[in-house]
Amino acid sequence: MTLPKTYRIKSFGCQMNVYDGERMAELLSARGMTAADGEDADLVVLNTCHIREKAADKAYSDVGRLTRDDGSKPLVALAGCVAQAEGAEAQKRSKLIDMVVGPQAYHRLPEMVAEAAAGRKSVDTDMPAISKFDALPRRKRSGPSAFLSVQEGCDKFCTYCVVPYTRGAEISRPFADIAAEAEQLVAGGAREITLLGQNVNAWESDGRDLAGLIRHLASFGELERIRYTTSHPVNMGDALIQAHADVPKLMPYLHLPVQSGSDPILKAMNRSHTTLSYLETIAKVRQARPDIAISGDFIVGFPGESDEDFAATLRIVDEVRYAAAFSFKYSPRPGTPAASMEGQIPQGIMDERLARLQARLAEHSTAFNAGCVGRTVPVLIDRVGRKPGQMIGKSPWLQSVFLSTDAGIGDMVDARLTHALPNSLGGELVSMAEAA
Ligand code: 5AD
Ligand code: SF4
Repeated sequence: MTLPKTYRIKSFGCQMNVYDGERMAELLSARGMTAADGEDADLVVLNTCHIREKAADKAYSDVGRLTRDDGSKPLVALAGCVAQAEGAEAQKRSKLIDMVVGPQAYHRLPEMVAEAAAGRKSVDTDMPAISKFDALPRRKRSGPSAFLSVQEGCDKFCTYCVVPYTRGAEISRPFADIAAEAEQLVAGGAREITLLGQNVNAWESDGRDLAGLIRHLASFGELERIRYTTSHPVNMGDALIQAHADVPKLMPYLHLPVQSGSDPILKAMNRSHTTLSYLETIAKVRQARPDIAISGDFIVGFPGESDEDFAATLRIVDEVRYAAAFSFKYSPRPGTPAASMEGQIPQGIMDERLARLQARLAEHSTAFNAGCVGRTVPVLIDRVGRKPGQMIGKSPWLQSVFLSTDAGIGDMVDARLTHALPNSLGGELVSMAEAA
């Protein structure tokens, strides 16, 4: 087979995977391949997530569906966290997979593609000391809102989580590299940058912490908004909290997963924070930035979770009044300590708890959105809506705002928020803050 001319990358899971997917696309484009959205690409990369139930099974069934009606198939790369977890096993389970490439090795994808085109299968799940970032091409074009990975991996070893195994040890990218990539993104059109890391607020380099990095980026004239995710409660230091008070470009939004509102469960999860320390952090953050939107992650049905433990989770939800949240049923991940703990919770109970938790979370997010009605806020337009003349953008609190406007993608407009929907807001244009 000759080298593929077209490729399609499908990313699942977290924003880190979205970022990796973009970088893989840039790598392949730099080798002369072009992106093909249709089903018929010569090369398909499945950039998988391993965080929850049946992730691997789902990946294999996705691979199975790549065979075409005439019996031929594209070159297939299994990438992401399932690739890391399965390694060489993947090609034993599915003959259709030509390449298995982990999240720390994808800079080698073009060479692996050339091998695969010559009929040779390959596996690369190394976590090389030399950073993949050094081997990736410069960023050229960017949408108005760009992701920038600054930190990878995790040393915290929460007992339910696969990330320390799939993404490896916690490492911070060097400050100079991040600053250079941020400049490229801004030159390429980004007006908002979201700094990404599994423990982004643990980032440090050359004596700087995340607050220092944010302050540096805030000095870029054309960059208007800075965000970061995901933070760990124990790394939420005073300097970062202070940045929320005095860096106007740092958006009033903090994703700070708590997972559970019960101290015994937090201990069993090895979370290294308590409900009290978490609530104290939230109070400090709110003091620094009273209008901040807090979002969180929750797991229901962790092994040993009693009705009382679950009730404590509902209480912390009421106390924090989350503006947004992600909630999941506990899923035993092979190889993690919690998977072999006693007291695994039956599915029926997990279903019931998840429904109750999500109903409570929805009450708070609806109330948060309703509380914004009447405000005039800057909206960064990032998508075209479905109705004629409709555009969609983001408020400072990361809400989607629907607007009728002839402003284009990348414009920042002032909008009065007129009505709250369950997961978004409607607004009307006040004035065009800036032209495209
Ligand atoms: N089961 C259920 N949810 C999980 N998460 C991580 N691991 C698991 C698991 N084994 C959730 C956590 C984390 C989010 C990214 O996914 O809430 O914050
Ligand atoms: Fe999924 Fe975690 Fe991997 Fe992201 S890092 S893709 S959430 S397993």
